[in-house]
Amino acid sequence: MWTQEIKFFYLTIVSCLSASSAAEGVPVRLSGSTLCSGRVEIFYNNTWGTVCDDNWDINDAEVVCRELGCGTAQSAAVSASFGEGNGSISLDDVDCSGSERSLTECQHRGFGTHDCTHSQDPGVVCSVILPKPRISMIPAGKVDRRSDVSITCSISPQSQQLLQGEFTLKQISGSFSQKKLSTTNSATFKILQVDFDKDGLYQCEYSHDSSISTSDSVNVSVTVFLQQPSISVTSPDGGLVRVPDGSEIISGYSFVFTCTNNEHYPGGVFNLIFYGSNMKHTKHTKPSVNNSASFSFPVADFGHDGRYSCVYEITLSAGTFTSPEASSIHIIIIYSIMSVLRCVFLPLILLLENIALHYYYKVIKKQKSDKKENDETDVSRDEEVEAEEEAVQEIE
Ligand SMILES: *[C@@H]1O[C@H](CO)[C@@H](O)[C@H](O)[C@H]1NC(C)=O
Ligand SMILES: *[C@@H]1O[C@H](CO)[C@@H](O)[C@H](O)[C@H]1NC(C)=O
Ligand SMILES: *[C@@H]1O[C@H](CO)[C@@H](O)[C@H](O)[C@H]1NC(C)=O
Ligand SMILES: *[C@@H]1O[C@H](CO)[C@@H](O)[C@H](O)[C@H]1NC(C)=O
Repeated sequence: MWTQEIKFFYLTIVSCLSASSAAEGVPVRLSGSTLCSGRVEIFYNNTWGTVCDDNWDINDAEVVCRELGCGTAQSAAVSASFGEGNGSISLDDVDCSGSERSLTECQHRGFGTHDCTHSQDPGVVCSVILPKPRISMIPAGKVDRRSDVSITCSISPQSQQLLQGEFTLKQISGSFSQKKLSTTNSATFKILQVDFDKDGLYQCEYSHDSSISTSDSVNVSVTVFLQQPSISVTSPDGGLVRVPDGSEIISGYSFVFTCTNNEHYPGGVFNLIFYGSNMKHTKHTKPSVNNSASFSFPVADFGHDGRYSCVYEITLSAGTFTSPEASSIHIIIIYSIMSVLRCVFLPLILLLENIALHYYYKVIKKQKSDKKENDETDVSRDEEVEAEEEAVQEIE
């Protein structure tokens, strides 16, 4: 009993496998004057053979056209209207519903079983639809000038096997155009050392006979990648103190920013960018000489407080290209000792001077009135002299 069930199971598997391999493994071709019309032939038992036209109709033709990627069927031909084949007649009484994926999936008498002659060889006429090719580009996105770009046009392997068409890569608004006959289903075009004339949109064309189908487009955007410059600050007269969150510069001292990089474009410039407390930024521009430019500030004042950075910029025929900004330097302006002296000690001295003068004149006044009253008091006279001396000392 078990043996019977196992046998049944085994047979089921074997019949499933053979059915699917029969459905997908039998190639079909058209032998005729044009690509998608001709006598139907199938490859079976290691040889190309024909089919018999018994029951041959538009549904059968539909399956053949679809299987070949030739679009839809326009007509089903009978009685060897595309000429007589030779060799074996592999299928007879083919009866497709029209929705089968391949001719050998349709009902038929069985491979090699027929009662026909080659005068009955059927054919099909299909409406060719050229498939739309695909396009892809490496690298994707912006392309550095002088680097290489490769653009690949492709189509399904079945279509290429059938059509053997040509791929053409075209620049939409430019002169670049290259054609390739490919044996595989794709063609890769290399554009070496791209310059600005290669900038723009590109499309693939797939052509067969005089028909052309066109792909979507890719954008080759040629740019100039510039490296990030670096920025440093010095104070020639020693007014700079480096602190954890930046550089302190004593007001009144000079300071100099130096921007540097390693680019070798002639005519490049450095821009010094200043971000003040109100985020307004001003730009100073200097040409790059030996890969650097210096920006001098002879007298530091509190308006210089803020962050500083630089960018490198070149202007070419295709436009202006800017590097990323250097990592910025935070400048903090601090009071100088001189200004501290001026601001704190000077008013103090003036104050003391005023007090002293006030006291002095008071004493003088008193002295005069005392003199009138009593001219002989030595003690008071001595006191007056002492006070006078003190006042003078304070002024000094
Ligand atoms: C028939 O003969 C031709 C030329 O001799 C050959 O190219 C072809 O493959 C043969 N078979 C079929 C099925 O047409
Ligand atoms: C396969 O071809 C051989 C000769 O090449 C022939 O003897 C045999 O009968 C064929 N088998 C079928 C199923 O057509
Ligand atoms: C191509 O890409 C660049 C950069 O992304 C863009 O500025 C430009 O407008 C694009 N061109 C077209 C025609 O889409
Ligand atoms: C630039 O470098 C060259 C050679 O290294 C030197 O002769 C020239 O003086 C430098 N120019 C400046 C402005 O430093």
